[in-house]
Formats: sequence, structure tokens, C-alpha cells
Amino acid sequence: MDHFLYKNKQLHAEDVDIRDIAETLGTPFYCYSAATLTRHYQLFTQALEPLPHLVCFAVKANSNIAVLKLLGDLGAGMDVVSAGEYLRARAAGVPGEKIVFSGVGKTVEEMRIALGGGIRQFNVESEPELEALSLVASEMGIEAPFALRVNPDIDARTHDKISTGRKEDKFGLPIERARDIYARAAQMPGLRIVGVDMHIGSQLTDLAPFEAAYTKLAELTRQLREDGHTIERLDLGGGLGIPYTRSNETPPLPSDYGAMVRRVLGDLGCEIEIEPGRLIAGNAGILVSSVIWRKSGGAREFLIIDAAMNDLLRPAMYDAHHDIIPVVEPAPGEPAVAVDIVGPVCESGDTFARQRAMPLLQSGDLVAFRSAGAYGAVMASEYNSRPLIPEVLVKNDQFAVIRRRPSYDEMLARDSLPAWMQPPAGEEPETGQAQVTEG
Ligand code: LLP
Repeated sequence: MDHFLYKNKQLHAEDVDIRDIAETLGTPFYCYSAATLTRHYQLFTQALEPLPHLVCFAVKANSNIAVLKLLGDLGAGMDVVSAGEYLRARAAGVPGEKIVFSGVGKTVEEMRIALGGGIRQFNVESEPELEALSLVASEMGIEAPFALRVNPDIDARTHDKISTGRKEDKFGLPIERARDIYARAAQMPGLRIVGVDMHIGSQLTDLAPFEAAYTKLAELTRQLREDGHTIERLDLGGGLGIPYTRSNETPPLPSDYGAMVRRVLGDLGCEIEIEPGRLIAGNAGILVSSVIWRKSGGAREFLIIDAAMNDLLRPAMYDAHHDIIPVVEPAPGEPAVAVDIVGPVCESGDTFARQRAMPLLQSGDLVAFRSAGAYGAVMASEYNSRPLIPEVLVKNDQFAVIRRRPSYDEMLARDSLPAWMQPPAGEEPETGQAQVTEG
């Protein structure tokens, strides 16, 4: 359940009429619901009770500092994959002891930043990384807490681009080599073993691959303990899928997932860490856009809207489906037409939906993409020199801009000319610099 519903025939985010936000900010924009974020976080933490646990929100799914602060204030930890994400979590007030640092290619510089600022654990993915971490921590005179990310060679049966737990994927270290690597790590200075980590993929709609992977994790934990290591924590990664359509998709609920975790891992006495991103933020956000033009093409009707693939990349990148709904609720029995919903970017891939049944919309009408709160704003770019779009957070009947729309001037000002293109002092440039202001 989320909090984006029609009230009096108008789409609302909680108690805020989407048209009010659109009138204030213009379109397109992302809009998140505080109540939905809160509810989804609580579902996870309740699902894992009574096991000791920490729900570490995967910052990559939605890294807005206001969103992180909302979750952090509820007690969430954070899973970060870059110094940038680490600094965002810290800026949101999350203490280092609640931040896990994942990622296949952490740099020495990133290790220094996290060690200096405080970190719960590094999820180490390679032997060179382990050696570098040992060196950096020793130089700093501290111990780096770490878990090894093991690759269990399990097919998550999800989209190929977001499957991470097969042996041909770039992630983690083969589970068969884990005992040797832990034995080596135990001899290295500056390191402290705290647990084991895995993450097998994203948007999983079946618990079976998780269960197969966690069964291997339980076995490894027992072996590592027999080898004399202290394994206090198990980091299970993220990956639980969400329904992207309202029809017949029924991915497992956090409560089903929690019951399975308790059954497979509950007797090990470990603190459980999980790293959900999509399930917390996905259905807590929408992308609102307006129709620029409607046009009849040679073979199709097109709705050309002001959001594009640079704002929401998922359909272009993964052929992902997002429900797209009119902001004004269609009247019962109102005729629908099949349209292709496309953005203005100059690529055929900038297509959000093909032959989607929509009411007859006109220029200026608003539409909302559902399930856009995770991997939406964070994956946006300025392709076609389209400035990043704003983000708004709603709470009850209030809304606040949590990232503003940059002006065209700000976007242009980041570029600079090399010295050899600058006119010599005293000479006027041949062409005047365009003065651009936001309309
Ligand atoms: N932990 C690790 C180590 C991860 O790599 C990921 C996601 C997560 C946690 C969170 O997974 P979630 O609970 O959100 O499924 N851009 C893609 C998704 C990429 C996911 C990458 N890793 C998309 O739009 O579908």
C-alpha cells in the first residue's frame, strides 16, 4: 500500500493535491511520501523481530538527504557504495557506527574518508581490497571492521543487469575460497573480522533464491566459527522486489522474508543486517510530468511528455514497466486510447510505454509515474542538457522541496573554457556570452 490515491477525482500524495505542487514548481518533479517511507521501513524492522538486526537502507536507491534523515531518525542504518553516499548519510545525521560500506571498487581515498569519519563495517569484495584496507587502517592506527562479501553462485532469476550472485558476476569472492581468505585476513594488521556479507540481486520476486543463498551462508558461518573466527553479524544484502503493476504481481512480503530469515539463520545468534532499497523507497515516490504535445504519427498516437529518459532511466535501460496514470481520475466508462508515451530526448529508446491505454489527454495535462521513488532521481542525468528535476517530500498536508530545480545558468556555469580559448586581456570576445535565465 502507498499513499498516492485519488481524492475528489484528483491524485494526492497523502493530503496534498498533486496539482498544487505542479503549480508551484512546474513539471517534471519527483514526489515522495513520508508516510509510505516510514511504513516500509517499519515493515522490515518488524519482520526481523525478535532477532537482533539493523535495517541499512541502500542509499543508491534514493540518496536525497531529507529521505535519509527521515529513515535515519526512525533508527535505520545505511548501506553506501561511495564516499559521496557515505557523506550524504553523515550529512543526514546517521552515525558512522550504523553505516556499512559496500561496493566492488572502493578506492583508498574512500576507505580513508570512511575510517576517519567512523564506519560500522566494510563489505570487502576482493583480496587486493582487503590488503589495501589493512594498509590504510594500519597507517591510521585503527582497526577496520569488515565482512567478506561472498558470491554463493545462485541465480536470483531477475533481470540480467541486476543479478549479482552468479559466479560469472563481478561481485564478491567465490564462497569456496572464503575460509582461506578469512584465515589470511586474521593474520593481517589493521583488520577485524565482524561477519559475512552477501547480496544476490535486485527485484527478486521469489524467496527461493534467497533461501538457497542463506542456507549456504549458514553453513559457511558454522565453518568459519570452527576455524576460530568471531562471526557476529550476517549482512544479507537487499533485493526484495516490489509490484510495479497493480494487476497480478504479488512479490513476497517483508514478513514472509523475515520468517524465512528466522528459519534459516535464526539459530546462529548473529545480528542480522539487511540492505533494502527498492522496497522502502520504490512505491514511496512518483514522477509527475505534463503532456507537451499529443501527435498522430504514421502508425501510432504519441503522448510527448516533459519527462524523459534522462529523468527516469529504468524503462530505457531495463525495459522496466512503470504504471503511468492521469492526475485527474478518469470518469467511469471514459474512453481510453492506446498511446506511446515518450519523452523529448532524441533517441527512440526515450519511450516510457508503448500502446498503453490512456484517457484522451491534451497539452498541459498531468500524468504520474508510479513506483519511481527508487532508482529514479538517483539515476538521472543532464543528457540533452536537460537540468536535473526537483524532488519534493510530502508529509500529511505539507510539502517541501528537498532538491530544487537548478537554473540554466547554474548548469552552464559548470563548464569552463581552457586558457587558450580565452581572449587575450583587453580584447573583446568575438561572440557575446549568451545570458540565459530560467523561465
Ligand atoms: N545492497 C547491495 C550491495 C546492492 O548492490 C543493492 C542494489 C542493494 C543492497 C539494494 O537492492 P534493492 O533492495 O534496492 O533491490 N538500478 C536498478 C537496480 C540496481 C540495484 C543495484 N544494487 C533498477 O533500477 O532496477
